[in-house]
Amino acid sequence: MARRRRIYEGKAKVLFEGPEPGTLVQYFKDDATAFNNQKHGVITGKGVLNNRISEFLMQRLVEIGIPTHFVRRLNMREQLVREVEIIPVEVVIRNVAAGSLVKRFGVPEGQLLPRAIVEYYYKSDSLGDPMISEEHITAFGWATTQEIDDILALSLRVNDFLTGLFVGIGLRLVDFKLEFGRLYNEDEMRIVLADELSPDNMRLWDAKTNEKMDKDRFRQDLGGVKEAYQEVARRLGILPEGGPTDMKGPKVMQ
Ligand SMILES: Nc1ncnc2c1ncn2[C@@H]1O[C@H](COP(=O)(O)OP(=O)(O)O)[C@@H](O)[C@H]1O
Ligand SMILES: [Mg+2]
Repeated sequence: MARRRRIYEGKAKVLFEGPEPGTLVQYFKDDATAFNNQKHGVITGKGVLNNRISEFLMQRLVEIGIPTHFVRRLNMREQLVREVEIIPVEVVIRNVAAGSLVKRFGVPEGQLLPRAIVEYYYKSDSLGDPMISEEHITAFGWATTQEIDDILALSLRVNDFLTGLFVGIGLRLVDFKLEFGRLYNEDEMRIVLADELSPDNMRLWDAKTNEKMDKDRFRQDLGGVKEAYQEVARRLGILPEGGPTDMKGPKVMQ
């Protein structure tokens, strides 16, 4: 098959031109980065796991009426998505204190927050993703007030749903990051969930032991990164057959 045109290469994924207009192929790499790109690593098999985990979670969200960019998984490392105009705002939803919340406000790690806290960050590697408020978003024209309302409502629904889903498999959804985009359909535009939903973008702790099962294992050099992602996939009931051994090239599964 002729290689598709590469549209963008990010830290964890590559976007290729899709088979039809308005679609993209998202290729999940094994690369891991942290601390605004200062720390690099390769976690063999991570891309395969994240492709599966993201597929599974996006499908579950579609079932409860959350619009997403996801179309279908193509193979071990690739999924077909609808091309959207990405809103350059990362939405972080927190249920339990961890990460930068602990650093910034001195709250003890693990403290249950009285309600979900939603934060916005401007998506800019060169600026180090600074934290922003709604005021910045509207003043700089990144999204309208109406769009922010939609994004907030969707984020809270995603949080409620995923929190419950993970409780059912003995995991605590501590926090996670979402990206949204504008999907244009003739004269209509709607906000949809884009990017990925995986342990690269969420903190998941074992409900009993509080063991970290996400990218913090890489950030904090805890080891067993792949095993943790694999365990998340196993609990979701979607561990790829044969395990996430490194695939040299994409294997078509359909
Ligand atoms: N449906 C989509 N349409 C267009 N761009 C998307 C879509 N989904 C995700 N993206 C963008 O593709 C990139 C995914 O690659 P990633 O490696 O995560 O990049 P980054 O290093 O910017 O985080 C992100 O910049 C994300 O905003
Ligand atoms: Mg990313």
